[in-house]
Amino acid sequence: MKVTIVGAGAVGASCAEYVAIKDFASEVVLLDIKEGVAEGKAMDLMQTATLNSFDTQITGTTNDYSKTAGSDVAVITSGIPRKPGMTREELIGINAGIVKEVSSNLIKHSPNVTLIVVSNPMDTMTYLVHKTTGLPKNKIIGMGGALDSARFKFRLSEALECPPSDVNGMVIGGHSDTGMVPLTRLATRNSIPVSAFLSEDRLNQVSEDTKVGGATLTKLLGTSAWYAPGAAVSALVQAIACNQKKMFPCSAMLEGEYGLNDICIGVPAIIGKDGLEKIVEIELDDAESKKIKESAEGVSKTNALLEL
Ligand code: LAC
Repeated sequence: MKVTIVGAGAVGASCAEYVAIKDFASEVVLLDIKEGVAEGKAMDLMQTATLNSFDTQITGTTNDYSKTAGSDVAVITSGIPRKPGMTREELIGINAGIVKEVSSNLIKHSPNVTLIVVSNPMDTMTYLVHKTTGLPKNKIIGMGGALDSARFKFRLSEALECPPSDVNGMVIGGHSDTGMVPLTRLATRNSIPVSAFLSEDRLNQVSEDTKVGGATLTKLLGTSAWYAPGAAVSALVQAIACNQKKMFPCSAMLEGEYGLNDICIGVPAIIGKDGLEKIVEIELDDAESKKIKESAEGVSKTNALLEL
């Protein structure tokens, strides 16, 4: 399994580190446009191999896509991250051009690649890749829900005063401060609905904290987060590499599912060797359906800014 990660910034490098530590890929190629950065981070990571006991070969390249040839999976993290006070949507102008060029370069050298889109505004960037590459729709996955769900479970564990591993839950909808739909009704602690332990007010607070999870970190860090985003991407890469058929909410191209069409937005999906193998349709209550519809309206507005 060969994995390419485009963008050797904090998210790309964290992703490379987690992929290597989990030791399921034979090769990771880091690519960046900044001279020497990908090579440097790859070398630094390789010098952890004996300490962290992995055999994955990590190499770096300054924008030479021939080095990515034959990749099974490629992660697109390139583009600018948001600064405090910015929304993900404000990044569209610069990032759309970058994501279009990067995806086309990747496919030129790896026609059978599965692409994982991380660059923001992620749902719109995923839609752009669908519209411009001609890859089959199972081969394009937007990474947002896996991260948002991890943040949701963390916030639930705080509220429940329990370890995060006791908690299960999902966030669907757009990967934006207003578009996320944390499914509090379905979240559980060891199969018991969290509503058995937490008041409606507390659950609303958990939802709100989850939705601004990225913005909260951006304010603290001065740039967007990287550990949880990197870990979430590496979980998707592993699900593909190891054909795990795990369920993650991912930004998928919808054709009627959830009553939506011609839009990429976060929905539960099965991730395995063929990429996004299946969209899982679950029954939503009226309030959740309304929120998904509103979230989709927001994503569509951002999509309309694309010059396709
Ligand atoms: C975040 C970025 C990766 O939510 O969108 O941290």
